[in-house]
Amino acid sequence: MKILETKQAVREHCSTLRKAGQSIALVPTMGFLHEGHLSLVREAARRCDVVVVSIFVNPTQFGPNEDLDSYPRDTERDLELLAREGVSGVFMPSVDEMYGATGDTFVEVPELSSILQGALRPDHFRGVSTVVSKLFNIVQPDVAVFGEKDYQQLAIIRQMVRDLDMPLAIVGHPTVREADGLAMSSRNVRLSEQQRAEAAALSQSMTAAETIASEGTQIVELKRVITEVIEENAPNGKIESVEIRDALTLAPLDGALDRPAVILLAVRFGAVLLIDQRVIDVTNQLG
Ligand code: PAF
Repeated sequence: MKILETKQAVREHCSTLRKAGQSIALVPTMGFLHEGHLSLVREAARRCDVVVVSIFVNPTQFGPNEDLDSYPRDTERDLELLAREGVSGVFMPSVDEMYGATGDTFVEVPELSSILQGALRPDHFRGVSTVVSKLFNIVQPDVAVFGEKDYQQLAIIRQMVRDLDMPLAIVGHPTVREADGLAMSSRNVRLSEQQRAEAAALSQSMTAAETIASEGTQIVELKRVITEVIEENAPNGKIESVEIRDALTLAPLDGALDRPAVILLAVRFGAVLLIDQRVIDVTNQLG
C-alpha cells in the first residue's frame, strides 16, 4: 500500500494503474476509520480493480465554532486497517498541499446546500463539494463511494457530478450500525457513556415511524412519533431537526405520505451533533 502525500504522487500512482488497464475506485474519508468506512472500501473493491482512499480532515467544511481541532485522528491505526483491506494507495495531503497559498475557487451546489444541515452549518457543503471535486480531479477515479448516512452530502455530490458532467459513477452505500442501531460515526467516541446509551434513540425513533408508516399516513404524525421516542429515550439529547423529505429531491413533504421519503434527523448530545437517516418507501417506487 502506497502512502501518497502529494497530488503529484497520486497522479503518478493512478496513471501507472490506468496504463495497466486497472479501474480505480475512490473512497474519500476524514480518517479515524470505523467499520462503516471499511464497508465503503469493500464496496469500492467490488466495483473496481483497485481502491484509493483519501484521509483529509477538510478545514473548509468546518465552521468557525465547529470541532476541526478536536476532530478525532489516529493515522497509524487507519493505515493498518486499510492495508488489511488491500487498498492500493492512501492519499494523505497536508492542508497546504491540498489548498496551496491562495485557494480562492469553490464549487457549490447552492440550492441543495442551503437547506436542512446546510441551514444549520453555513458553508459546510460548499467545503465538501469543493474538496470532493478536487479529489476527483486529482485521483480521476472511475467510481467514488460515499455513505448513505450523510444523505444530503450524497445528494449534493450526485447533483454536482450531473451538473458538471464529471466522468465517474457515484455509489451510495447503506449505513453500518452498532448492535443497538446507532449509526457508526467517528463522532461517537466523543459521547459520554450515558449519551452513548441514549443515542440509540435516533434509530429507534425511525423504526417506530417506519412501523406505523403506510401510504396515506400523515407526515405530521410520523414527526410526532419520532420526536416522542427521542424525547422519552434521550433526555440528554437536544433535537435540532426532524425532517421528512422527498427521498430523491429532498423537497419538503407535508400532508399524506404518497412517495418515497427520507427521514433526516439531527440530535445534539453536548458538543456532539449526531445525524441519521432512513428511507421509507411505502410505494416501493425505489426498489
Ligand atoms: O463524509 C466525509 O467524511 C467528508 O465530508 C468527505 C466526503 C470525506 C469530504 O471531506
